[in-house]
Amino acid sequence: ARRIKLAPSILSCDFTRLGEELSAIAGADWAHVDVMDGAFVPNISFGMPILAAARRASNLPMDVHLMIERPERYLKEFAAAGADSLTVHVEATPHVHRAVQQIRELGKRAGVTLNPGTPLEAVRPVLGDVDLVLVMSVNPGFGGQKFIPHSLERIRTLRRWLDELGSEAELQVDGGVSPTNARAVVAAGASVLVAGSAVYGRDGAQAGLERLREALK
Ligand code: DX5
Ligand code: ZN
Repeated sequence: ARRIKLAPSILSCDFTRLGEELSAIAGADWAHVDVMDGAFVPNISFGMPILAAARRASNLPMDVHLMIERPERYLKEFAAAGADSLTVHVEATPHVHRAVQQIRELGKRAGVTLNPGTPLEAVRPVLGDVDLVLVMSVNPGFGGQKFIPHSLERIRTLRRWLDELGSEAELQVDGGVSPTNARAVVAAGASVLVAGSAVYGRDGAQAGLERLREALK
C-alpha cells in the first residue's frame, strides 16, 4: 500500500499565529500554501512574503498551489521564497508545458492542476512531465466548501492514466477533504490529501490532523 501524505492548507489557519499554526502541523508531510490573485479566482489570499515567513517558521516542505493568471511570471519568485513544489492550473496559462519545464529547471517539484469543470484531457499531455497532479474537488478560491462527489471518478481516471504511464507522480486532492471522505479519496487513488478547514477548523490543528490520520487507518 502507498503511504498517504497529508498536506494541511494554511489558508484556514490563524495568521496572527502563523508560526504556532505551522508547529501544530509538524507531524504532517507538507504544508499546503494557497496563493490567490483575485483574477484567476474570486479571492485574494497572500503571496511571496507570507510564503517566506512560513518557510522560516517550519521545516515542512512548502507545497505551493498557484491560483494565479500566467503563473510563469512568478515561478522564480515563489521558488526563491521557499517553495518546494509549485503547482499551476492548466486554465491559467496557454503554456502549461513550458511552466512545468521552468519549475523543474528551478529544481522544484512540478505540479499541474485543473478546476472541477475542466476536462481531464487538459492535463493528459503533460502527465509524463510532472511530479504531481492535483485534482481540485471544489472550485478554487475558498476554504470550507463541500467536496464535489464526482471528483472520485476523476481521481480514479487519473490514477489509471498515471499507472499506465508508469508514473511515480503524486496524485493530490484538494477541497472539502475531511475524515468522512478521506478513505474514499485514497481508495480512488490519491496519494496526497490537502485539508484546510478539517485540520484548522475546530479544536486545533494537531487534533484535526490526528482525526484525519485516524480516518485513514
Ligand atoms: C481552495 C484551496 C484549498 C483550500 C482547502 O481554493 O485550494 O487548498 O484551502 O480548504 P478546505 O479543506 O477547507 O476545503
Ligand atoms: Zn489548494
